[in-house]
Amino acid sequence: MSGTLIKMKAMSTILLATGVMAGCSAPNQDTRVADLLSRMTLEEKIGQMTQVTFDVIGKPEADNDGFPIDLAKLDTAILKYHVGSILNTPYNKAQDLETWNKMMTAVQDAAQKSRLKIPVIYGIDAIHGTTYTKGGTLFPQAINLAATFNTELAEKEGAITAVEMKASGMTWNFYPVLDVGRQPLWSRFWETYGEDPYLAGVLGAAYIRGHQGDDYSQPDKAPTCLKHYIGYSMPFNGKDRTPAHFGERLLRDVFLPPFQAGVLAGSPTVMLNSGEVDGMPGHANKHYLNTILRGELGFTGFTVSDWEDIKRLYTRDKVAASPEEAVKMAVMAGVDMSMVPYDFSFYTILLGLVRSGEVPESRIDEAVSRILKVKFDSGLFDNPYPNPDLKARFATAESREANRQAARESIVLAKNENNLLPLKKDTRLLITGPTANLLQVLNGGWTGTWQGDNEALLDQSNHTILEAFQEQSGGKITYAEGTTFQQAVNIGEAVKKAASADAILLCLGEKAYCETPGNLSSLDLDKAQKELAEAMFKTGKPVILLMLQGRPRVITELADQSRAVILGMLPGMEGAGAIADVVYGTYNPDGKLPFTYPKSVNGHSTYDYKPLEVYDGQSPQWLYPFGHGLSYTTFETSALTVDKKEFRQGETVTVSVTVKNTGTVAGKESVLLYLQDEAALVSRPNRQLKAFAKVFLQPGESQTVTLILAPDAFQYTGPDYKPRTDPGTFRVMTGSLAETITLLN
Ligand code: BGC
Repeated sequence: MSGTLIKMKAMSTILLATGVMAGCSAPNQDTRVADLLSRMTLEEKIGQMTQVTFDVIGKPEADNDGFPIDLAKLDTAILKYHVGSILNTPYNKAQDLETWNKMMTAVQDAAQKSRLKIPVIYGIDAIHGTTYTKGGTLFPQAINLAATFNTELAEKEGAITAVEMKASGMTWNFYPVLDVGRQPLWSRFWETYGEDPYLAGVLGAAYIRGHQGDDYSQPDKAPTCLKHYIGYSMPFNGKDRTPAHFGERLLRDVFLPPFQAGVLAGSPTVMLNSGEVDGMPGHANKHYLNTILRGELGFTGFTVSDWEDIKRLYTRDKVAASPEEAVKMAVMAGVDMSMVPYDFSFYTILLGLVRSGEVPESRIDEAVSRILKVKFDSGLFDNPYPNPDLKARFATAESREANRQAARESIVLAKNENNLLPLKKDTRLLITGPTANLLQVLNGGWTGTWQGDNEALLDQSNHTILEAFQEQSGGKITYAEGTTFQQAVNIGEAVKKAASADAILLCLGEKAYCETPGNLSSLDLDKAQKELAEAMFKTGKPVILLMLQGRPRVITELADQSRAVILGMLPGMEGAGAIADVVYGTYNPDGKLPFTYPKSVNGHSTYDYKPLEVYDGQSPQWLYPFGHGLSYTTFETSALTVDKKEFRQGETVTVSVTVKNTGTVAGKESVLLYLQDEAALVSRPNRQLKAFAKVFLQPGESQTVTLILAPDAFQYTGPDYKPRTDPGTFRVMTGSLAETITLLN
């Protein structure tokens, strides 16, 4: 990030640049697919559309002798049911690298015994690194990655994750999550890149670039999966897998753009929304799956259902009157692969439906061709086995350093009254609170286990907050737990220890969770944690509030009384060290909030609110706005200029702005460029992020940052739900600077 000119492009330009490259296949792949398909029986084809979970091929845990697969069950799945894909980890627990290598070799050995030797594509949720391989590099979760506003870090995360996954022998990553996080109560909020569709799209595309490279058949690359198409992240009541109610405009303006970016970046697979939008379950929505995903976004890969969701069209949603109708409905709506996942019912039912003529074989051929294409493009037909050379690249010191940097850039310093921070290393610090001495609170779900809350299974060589501060402080730390998440244990001890401390690091937040088990009815913070906070404020010692959490629990009163507030969110396995780096000033913080931090339980706004939300004396409600984040230095932004004040349809507008480090420490600054459409045929957001860039500046140094507004930056969804761009005035804004430009007739 050096040099005097940084060029960042608006979405469309990035998409065009990346879309043509990633995941492209050799010209003869289509011929190979057609040839193979022509030799397959109907049973073999339907098997390719079937995905089962590990339990179907696994030994009971009590019988696990170090090799968790039951070879007879594996043969049944692959030789009898011709299963094309398997997912997940044994016993919902991370396994070591060697076990994964043995298991993945056995799976591909079984496939090699089949008539046509079609390799298995093995899927895993490597959502912040290799979730299920012990000792892997576990990055900050997406909500933190978004706070970095750094595409290079997202790309590195993708590249490192692909290496470690392939070193384990898995061949398909159910990631990135491109849902947009605008419902803060949702238990998967932290799996998103935050509330802005542009930011999510740019970071998702960067991740895919790193993970897939130009050609994902390379030994250290692998295909990604965009999820969860579409509208999953907006449950009305905030609970996971509950209905979303929105129309086509929000779909097109907010939820589709990241998926469009992911498709253009070359991701060849898409996982579907487990919930429903406007009464239509995601797995039965032909309009979304065909008209929009394939027709408009141009997606040519395959779609996979989410967990058991085809069955649920019958068992839960009641849009199908029988299991058979559910399978027919989903397959005909455009679902290519079923994550069944516990049995072979999908196989048996679909076979019956094709034999009876209810589902045409042409639809099967279409789905199977798409699946085989991804298998060919992944290089699986050339070599499906784990590559032993990659083991040397698993969890290297270099990957750990990249992870530490990602963690550092993801920490948001939200408040720093009278420059309390950074602390001197000899400050006598009391560390207290339920998130002070656990690893799970740094990582959240999908860490070692699905829920991520089994502390014993997490890699103990990593540091908790307490351990990281002990390491860096030179013996000046005291500790009192004070409270668990919901139960006060020894607040009195914390008060006593505070007497001999110079400052208090109050570590609050949430235990690890994910999906439905993480459901919550209120963003209010647990009572016991508030009690500990009140007791700490009463000591009169300066309190640094550290929040480790997957969603923004309401902290308004606590933040008011704290001298400093650090929003650590879920910074990953290097997160504790990164937070200590920030507190002691070894690292100058530069994270910026990728969402709007609510002020009260029901007072949530997003930064791109509508004029209606501030009319008649109303004002947007937030504790901290989107893009908020402090530094130990000061930056001055000046000289906002546009290359043309007037422009025509199809033209780009180049914006430049000068950023100067006017303080005394080196640091990074993210420049966020917003656009406001002054009038349109539908109500428009008060502003929208259209480009960003991050620069590193020494004290006194300045740089001119150039950002490009591509023609589609001025586009919106018209009354007829079609994209349109109208002549008129736009305001270009960054910080407190603004310029007006006019699109001519
Ligand atoms: C989740 C998906 C995940 C799948 C496979 C589902 O419950 O919704 O995000 O990829 O499980 O583990």
